[in-house]
Amino acid sequence: MCGIIGYVGGREAVPILIKGLEHLEYRGYDSAGIACLSPDCSGFFVCKEQGKIGELKARLNGVPTQANSGIGHTRWATHGAPSKTNAHPHLGQNGRVAVVHNGIIENYAELKSELKRKGCCFKSDTDTEVAAHLIESYYHGDLGGAMRRAAARIQGFFAFVAMAKAEPNRVCALKRSNPLVVGVGKGENFVASDVSALLPYTNKVMYLEDDEFVELTRECVNVSRLKDGKPVRKQIATVSWKAEEASKGDFPHFMLKEIFEQPAVLRRTLQTYVKKTGGIAFDTLDRKVKDHVKRTGKIFVVSCGTAYHAGLVGRYLFEAYARVPTEAHVSSEFRYSDPIISKNDTAVFITQSGETADTLAALREAKRKGARTLAIVNVAGSTIAREADAVVYTLAGPEIGVASTKAYLGQLLTLALFALYVGGLRKRLSQSAIRGFTREASKLPDKVREILGTSESVDSAAGALFTKGNFLFLGRGYNFPNALEGALKLKEISYAHAHGYAAGEMKHGPIALIDETQPVVCLVPKGTKTYTKMLSNMEEILARRGIIISIATKGDRAVQRLSRHVFWIPDTLEIFSPILTAVPLQLFAYKIATLNHRDVDQPRNLAKSVTVE
Ligand code: AGP
Repeated sequence: MCGIIGYVGGREAVPILIKGLEHLEYRGYDSAGIACLSPDCSGFFVCKEQGKIGELKARLNGVPTQANSGIGHTRWATHGAPSKTNAHPHLGQNGRVAVVHNGIIENYAELKSELKRKGCCFKSDTDTEVAAHLIESYYHGDLGGAMRRAAARIQGFFAFVAMAKAEPNRVCALKRSNPLVVGVGKGENFVASDVSALLPYTNKVMYLEDDEFVELTRECVNVSRLKDGKPVRKQIATVSWKAEEASKGDFPHFMLKEIFEQPAVLRRTLQTYVKKTGGIAFDTLDRKVKDHVKRTGKIFVVSCGTAYHAGLVGRYLFEAYARVPTEAHVSSEFRYSDPIISKNDTAVFITQSGETADTLAALREAKRKGARTLAIVNVAGSTIAREADAVVYTLAGPEIGVASTKAYLGQLLTLALFALYVGGLRKRLSQSAIRGFTREASKLPDKVREILGTSESVDSAAGALFTKGNFLFLGRGYNFPNALEGALKLKEISYAHAHGYAAGEMKHGPIALIDETQPVVCLVPKGTKTYTKMLSNMEEILARRGIIISIATKGDRAVQRLSRHVFWIPDTLEIFSPILTAVPLQLFAYKIATLNHRDVDQPRNLAKSVTVE
């Protein structure tokens, strides 16, 4: 998704804008640009390039600007192909206003016709340029007033940041559904799409709500209501993340760093939600939420992509341990399905970014129908975290790689602990039973560390198979969602075709794919109800000379006999098995993608947070 940065202060703006954009690269983009104002107000200095920020930096090399304010943008194309012309910022007709934008203007065609009739000439195919002309058409010396009038005409979901040539010490912004956060500095202020762009400069932030307007000058931050300008008092939050957490360190890719951070994520999760007594507590949930969860009639788990796979595991967990009827839904389906959900139900929204448009819309639909909403989110202060009735954080820290890894493991463990916790609340599980589970959970960080330390088998399997363009992933029960997740990891970073299936479904179609050229990844940890069924599936694959890659419990000779490659994992309880089987899947996808020289952290066409439909 697009990334936005704005700065006003006493320092040279261009390096700050560029560094901010580099911290937003992970959101996914195809072009980038900046606009800044020279102190003599002679006009905007605009520099835009298709491709990576490095191209922009090369163009800017040595160009003096002496600007102390500016705006920057990384574009993920929606309207108009990726190109230098379509890159942001965009200027109004007479170059008096510059604008960057994240979102979609749904009525841009109608507005564009109107502006053309007024004599505006358009250079790009973007909807954003329409906003630039519209704001400038209302500009008579007051940028805020012009933006408010323009926003009243615009339909859609958006975050705008703009500057006026005549007002070098002022950056203005407004949002509806797309994220914007203000960074409060000393003698300087910032606005950006998310906190990662601000952390190098400040950890004091204000999260903007929908239909709020903010005016930044070097000295102050003024927030008001978009519709009537009424001042809004905002809390200044302190972000706990450190800037270096959002850097690669000694790793070649963010994704690999984040895979290796997973033991620490699990440890932080356990330290936060498991008490010294071995019981489980979610202190962010107030009594009202706990009472509701205690008596809720049904749980709906709603999410996208990898978070959806966590939601599928969550469904098994809530039904097995809390004994609550539970459905798992893809957000984009749930939001349009007129779901049969009401005030006695609980809707759980799982999301790393907290900004996914479909999940946010699904949350709003569930609230509209009266359901109690709980968000399981990684990014503090994100829109979904703020709009849900209650929030439980996955403590993964900033996840920069587009492919979600450590956040996924955080989701799986948090869901498992929460399901056990609800089981305890509903008297379905005794506290001693819960302590038994948390005793095993306490070993998970070391078990994941052990898996990470023995990746030779993954390397040799990837080395043998990286030229294959077609993979099948099979799992059952708690590991069926991980078959989907393994396939998603592989396809999204290596661009290979990969399909995840419930292994019991193999005979209903996918078995037709099996021959001596077909790799099949089988998730077959011991201690699961369906272990022997998985072995039967593997026999069927072998009988058709398929290439079996297994994820199996250490020492399992029965699996070894059937497999070309085996990724060994330590033994654990069935409830926690997806946490362990996910790790070799991540490493396997990562290795195959790097052997194919893919852009692992920013795969083509993908964005880290899908903030548009
Ligand atoms: C997973 O690797 C992908 N990056 C993608 O499927 C992601 O999980 C999905 O877009 C949901 O994002 P969210 O967790 O931020 O809502």
